[in-house]
Amino acid sequence: MAEPKSVYVGMSADLVHPGHLNIIKTARALGTVTLGLLTDEAIASYKRLPYMSYEQRKIVAENIKGVDRVVPQKTLDYRPNLREYKPDFVVHGTDWTTGVQREVRQAVIDTLAEWGGKLVEPEYTPGISSTALNVSQRELGTTPGIRLRQLKRLLSAKPLVRVMEAHSGLTGLLVEKTRVLVNDRPREFDALWLSSLTSSVVKGKPDIEFVDLTSRMGTANEILETTTKPIIYDGDTGGYPEHFALMVRTLERLGVSAVIIEDKTGLKKNSLYGTSAGQASESIAAFCDKIRIGREARVTDDFMVFARIESLILEKGLDDALERAKAYVNAGADGIMIHSKAKQPDEILAFCAQYAKFDAKAPLTVVPTTYCSITEEELIGAGVSIVIYANHLLRSAFPAMQRVAESILTHGRAEEASEYCMSIKEILKLIPGGT
Ligand code: SPV
Ligand code: MG
Repeated sequence: MAEPKSVYVGMSADLVHPGHLNIIKTARALGTVTLGLLTDEAIASYKRLPYMSYEQRKIVAENIKGVDRVVPQKTLDYRPNLREYKPDFVVHGTDWTTGVQREVRQAVIDTLAEWGGKLVEPEYTPGISSTALNVSQRELGTTPGIRLRQLKRLLSAKPLVRVMEAHSGLTGLLVEKTRVLVNDRPREFDALWLSSLTSSVVKGKPDIEFVDLTSRMGTANEILETTTKPIIYDGDTGGYPEHFALMVRTLERLGVSAVIIEDKTGLKKNSLYGTSAGQASESIAAFCDKIRIGREARVTDDFMVFARIESLILEKGLDDALERAKAYVNAGADGIMIHSKAKQPDEILAFCAQYAKFDAKAPLTVVPTTYCSITEEELIGAGVSIVIYANHLLRSAFPAMQRVAESILTHGRAEEASEYCMSIKEILKLIPGGT
């Protein structure tokens, strides 16, 4: 008897629907089915992280009738797995003939040709699509636990986690939904930053830890309601260690993924003022204690406490920053943030180069507000894991509002300002349930 033919199907198996089952059915009729299950890393390289983890999706995939074995597919590119398994057939829906997967498809055809394999493309199953399911899933929202764990998953799936500030329900919505296509690939922000600067300034208050936790939780709640992406909270200095422990509990309960506290003491001012504001460093020992107290206050291991180093801001030099990084990682910090107010990235890159040599490291975060010419590619090259765009939505909104206010005053009417305003209809359309 002839050997059964081998068939390869690549799949995410996140929201499995009849279209997927139709693909498997077609594959099964052709031979023995190997399902190449895309890893989180492979999926995150071209779209949003799947809802379920790889392990959860693997359980689903292994139990689909007709699947003989499940193997990991670590890249969107099928070639490594095809060369390993040399299937007689690959089965895939017709939906990849356009967009980012077009080139992937061509590479599959060319590779299969090396040993006479063929691509089989069953007709698209009408009335159902993963994209539509994803949209309705997102509209349903998320739970605190699922949201909280997303940041760790992103950190292991993506070379760089891209974070944008939000300071209201509306700006949260903007960060949640804004999407552009770059070389056919969709690009979005991965997470939200709850900046102390923007949360304070939007209330007309200075960034000196005056807007208290209760008030900031009001903003956090607005943002939690309009978003599903993970959240990193700017905890300023964390306050007294006893207060910091309570802050950790509150944030973790809400589903925030991480808090970042900075190693300053006394009246905190915004870092971009630097030494001119009379700010002081916390001692390494006291800050390490605060990190430990915060971590001990957690209910689960999923919540993360990041330590922010202000040595470059306070002009204490690279050695002080590195000494602190080492101590904070040893104290258990789940991440390190290194801040700078220099116009050029040199001091940040010097820190990154030394940090890369550490034996024990935690993911590194940077906030390129002043040294904004640096690109995400360069940050990845320097070993940075998280980039935070910390204040840009608020800084861009204010000049736009100011221009409109001045125009109305100047002209004694609103008509000239209209060209700077979106229509009421458009603004209502932004809000789910608003029309
Ligand atoms: C914030 O966004 O509040 C920050 C970053 O802490 S910075 O304003 O640069 O200090
Ligand atoms: Mg801040």
